[in-house]
Amino acid sequence: MRFGDISQAIGNTPLVALPHLSPAGATIHLKLEGHNPTGSVKDRVAKYLIEQAERYGQLRPGQRVLEPTSGNTGIGLAAICRVKGHPLTCVLPENTSEERKQLLQLFGAELVFSPATEGSNGSVRVARELAAADPDAFMPFQYANPANALAHYETTGPEIIADLPDVTAFVAGLGTGGSVTGVGKRLKRWNPAVKVYAAEPEYGDLVYGLRNLDEGYVPEVLDLAVLDGRIKVNSRRALEWTRRLADEEGIFAGVSTGASLAVAVRVAKRLPDGAQIVAMSPDGGWKYLSTGAYAPGDVATIAERISGVLWA
Ligand SMILES: Cc1ncc(COP(=O)(O)O)c(C=O)c1O
Repeated sequence: MRFGDISQAIGNTPLVALPHLSPAGATIHLKLEGHNPTGSVKDRVAKYLIEQAERYGQLRPGQRVLEPTSGNTGIGLAAICRVKGHPLTCVLPENTSEERKQLLQLFGAELVFSPATEGSNGSVRVARELAAADPDAFMPFQYANPANALAHYETTGPEIIADLPDVTAFVAGLGTGGSVTGVGKRLKRWNPAVKVYAAEPEYGDLVYGLRNLDEGYVPEVLDLAVLDGRIKVNSRRALEWTRRLADEEGIFAGVSTGASLAVAVRVAKRLPDGAQIVAMSPDGGWKYLSTGAYAPGDVATIAERISGVLWA
């Protein structure tokens, strides 16, 4: 395939079945979003955030973009802003992995750090303060911007339908809620019987990129009406399934993939025989290597050792 620039090479990611990890009577398929140009699902969102803002006159040529992001959206935005000529400031927790920081800097983004202890909520707080002080900066704010879910409604969802018309369920980790909302609505429009589940970390337990709604913030992008269930998963299980994916299926994914896979396996047991379940794989494992998540050894020990590093 040929493309006019890198923003046009976003999407059309592979949908890959898991013959070894799917429980009897069901097939789980992973939507491998790590195949996007900067390596995550957030390339789709970044493209929509910028292009919609340009289209509707909220973002002028050359205007600064400012966004709180735990990494993936920032990396996607950094590449898109480069190719479209916008300077970018990202606000991220200070304990974000080194790979993410370097990728952002590589694309010329300015980094502002928020306290590690406040997680992504701290980045939102700091970004809001910066936006209030600089009215010229445009903050797309993926948590409340309809372009986030629209990217999934118009691209991820239709790709799944084209590749697997008899899809019966969809599972994605809950971050901004853009994936579950956009894909979920599109799949239910296709077939109202499709079930949609969100993988949510347990209260007080952190899985990179995901949030627990009971911790106080429900993103405006998330439409709870689209969900048939929010299913809890802890960070040790997320890591365990991420590692099994490499061991048994030869797929190297980020840890939030393990969270949605763990939930997909649970959901498979509730659904009638023949279920075709799509689980979201938001990114590959590359950006997490330095955390030790994939080092040899026992999962429980590794999960314990890296907690607070990986789960920030
Ligand atoms: C690694 C990772 N997994 C999962 C998610 C959750 O996706 P969404 O924001 O669409 O809910 C994100 C982004 O927030 C992410 O960066």
